[in-house]
Amino acid sequence: MTPPDNTSHRPVLLRETIAALDLKPGLNVVDGTVGAGGHSAEILKRILPGGKLIGLDRDDSMLQRARTRLAPLAPEAFELLQASYADLETLLPELGLTTVDRLLVDLGLSSDQLADRERGFGFATQGSLDMRFDTSRGKPVHEWLNRADIAEITTVLTEFGEEPQAARIAQAITEQRRVRPILRVSDLVALIEQACSSPGRRAEKSHPATRTFQALRIFINAELEHLKRFMTETAPACLKAGGILAVITFHSLEDRLVKQALADRAVWEISSKKPLIASPLEIKMNPRSRSAKLRIGIRAKPEIDHISGTI
Ligand SMILES: C[S@@+](CC[C@H](N)C(=O)[O-])C[C@H]1O[C@@H](n2cnc3c(N)ncnc32)[C@H](O)[C@@H]1O
Repeated sequence: MTPPDNTSHRPVLLRETIAALDLKPGLNVVDGTVGAGGHSAEILKRILPGGKLIGLDRDDSMLQRARTRLAPLAPEAFELLQASYADLETLLPELGLTTVDRLLVDLGLSSDQLADRERGFGFATQGSLDMRFDTSRGKPVHEWLNRADIAEITTVLTEFGEEPQAARIAQAITEQRRVRPILRVSDLVALIEQACSSPGRRAEKSHPATRTFQALRIFINAELEHLKRFMTETAPACLKAGGILAVITFHSLEDRLVKQALADRAVWEISSKKPLIASPLEIKMNPRSRSAKLRIGIRAKPEIDHISGTI
């Protein structure tokens, strides 16, 4: 699918996700990471008439893109809110709902955010090192980077980036900031390239800054905390019995968390044994899909406590 004019993002595993969600007219569906609305547009077409789509994103600029894409399809049938998918349980009553029929989260960030020069997500851009999805909360990542000690930086790069050179990069960061603060993407990229360029080291397939940028983004947005809360509390509470959850992950830290949560048979009646992955053709057309994994869960009926009669 070619993206429309206002986005460069191609939704991953689109056909597989739509098939797994088993959509029908009249269903209430939450796209917890609406992004530029790629998955949502296809969802919306299938739940009309009578259905409702709720799209969430922490990034207001992505909601604007989604609105432009979805409004021509059915202006009355969707609602977009700036919020984390982890907070869905508190949002549903405000929307007049207690549970929904389908839930989707497509994790990580979109190609639009990665390419945005001002956001600091991409190491090929020139902007300020911000990296927050929601720029109205918290502080840009450069504030932490210029203050944290070597051990803290090493831990973040190791835990969230699985970066083998974490200690070396952390050392270079603390040395560099004694000269001048690290404020821009280019400052950080230059020092990582230098720290990782010792003679005799084998050239890696990916850019040496890839893992550091992933780690800092996950850390500053507390991504794994949001995901864990969503998988263990929010999704079980918000999905109807028999409702379907679809989760698309992009790295092993996310996928491990999702897999573990879906293994709870008291909550998930059925879940994917193996994740679905992109076809060679999709990977060729959209290299971002290379690491994508789609897992599905079907919400079990809550067990009835026969003694007290409560659920
Ligand atoms: C991979 S993109 C989604 C793309 C979308 N499926 C599409 O086809 O256009 C991920 C989106 O999730 C958003 N996001 C990340 N963490 C979030 C969270 N905890 N709650 C809501 N949105 C989040 C990002 O801002 C980004 O727009």
